[in-house]
Amino acid sequence: MHQREHFNSRLAIVLALAGSAIGLGNIWRFPYVVGEYGGAAFIIVYIAFSLCISLPIMLSESIIGRHARKGVYCALRDLAPRRPWWKWAGLVAVLGAFIISSYYSVVGGWSVDYMMRALMKGFSPDAPDNVMGIFGRMSSSVWEPIAAHTIFLGLCAAIVMLGVKNGIERFNKFSIPLLFILIVGMLVFSVNLPGARGGVEYLLKPDFSKMTAKGLSCALGQSFFSMSLGIGAVLTYASYMKPDQGILSAGVWTTLFDAGFAIMAGFVVMPAVFSAGIAPGAGPSLVFESIPYIFAKMGAASPLLARVASVTFFLTILIAAVTSEISMLEVCVSQLVEQRQISRRKASILVFILAWGLGVLCSLSFGVLGHVRILGSGIFEFFDQLSSNYIMLLGALAFAIFVGWQMKKADVEAELTNGGSLRASSRLFKFLYPVIRYVIPPAIVLIFITNLL
Ligand code: PFF
Repeated sequence: MHQREHFNSRLAIVLALAGSAIGLGNIWRFPYVVGEYGGAAFIIVYIAFSLCISLPIMLSESIIGRHARKGVYCALRDLAPRRPWWKWAGLVAVLGAFIISSYYSVVGGWSVDYMMRALMKGFSPDAPDNVMGIFGRMSSSVWEPIAAHTIFLGLCAAIVMLGVKNGIERFNKFSIPLLFILIVGMLVFSVNLPGARGGVEYLLKPDFSKMTAKGLSCALGQSFFSMSLGIGAVLTYASYMKPDQGILSAGVWTTLFDAGFAIMAGFVVMPAVFSAGIAPGAGPSLVFESIPYIFAKMGAASPLLARVASVTFFLTILIAAVTSEISMLEVCVSQLVEQRQISRRKASILVFILAWGLGVLCSLSFGVLGHVRILGSGIFEFFDQLSSNYIMLLGALAFAIFVGWQMKKADVEAELTNGGSLRASSRLFKFLYPVIRYVIPPAIVLIFITNLL
């Protein structure tokens, strides 16, 4: 029997959860969806959803994880032994974590590639327009993105192999504070660029007319993805919490850190985009095309500054991506260690090999496998949509129903309040429990239906 590890302190669990939450979703995706869906209007709705819907789901996952002290599959299996379908829900969550970890590692690889480029040669000021073509050339080639994906995934698997305390906790302890220092530094730099005001106004001007059903579903989907819900990442990390660590405070801090970081990333990217005179609606290519273009333009005036700024920017994305990726790998590794009783080392290597294989297919779908369609989508796109539009939502629904209707109310309350010793949590429980039972499940079903239409 393996000894179950624990996070060392309250801070360690918050840093781990925040590390999982803060990732490509915050820096790469949040700024452009804010732009697409009405600036401040989106931010307000996003914060409201994160606090009212995502946070209760995060708490539900944490309650299951710490109560069972097992990863997602074994937790649902053991807490509901007479209802075998729950364990299948757990397996779907593990599958979701596996799929996301595979394609996420491809984008993580791109950030490795860009950071190396920024470090070695910078983005050439001679032909800033050419810089925007780098992304298309790089992502559609065969070996370069695969090599970068291998480096990224290898690094993450190595951290997970070292264990919860020696790997994950240690890495998060220095990288999360560093991420905040880097983002604040870049924010100050970005809002002071000439012409940056347009970007600040763009983010602050609320346009509620864009908050259509699609805008709302996008805000909730973004919040789920950003807070790592529905695929057992939070559940698995919470299973390493000690009995005296508070679930509520960890959840609230994680929500605040995640939303705060996303908003700061918006204020780094958009002012810079406006300052360089680029269209803000560039969508997903914003970070890998528009931003290097800005650095190239900047390089013409002050090469050193441009170099430092570009390395800092891509290093921030890289670190944020690593701390998220390790939480997904941990879901898969803990499943193998607990259910198949194999060593963490073997499990990490196995997960690395499998995720690498699927990641390679996703990477090639930007080039030589571009013609392959699965239900009308390219390979990368198919797996992204399958996991974020369906598996995450179904997982979140399953966790809320499990806590609201399957677990005993007394167990749920004891877990949230540490046996009644946390007063604020006890007060909140009276309000939270009905929300988890009656509000969250229909809300998720509604979003699910919107996604299907
Ligand atoms: N929250 C991460 C991000 O915003 O990039 C992505 C993620 C990590 C999703 C872990 C799901 C997960 F389990």
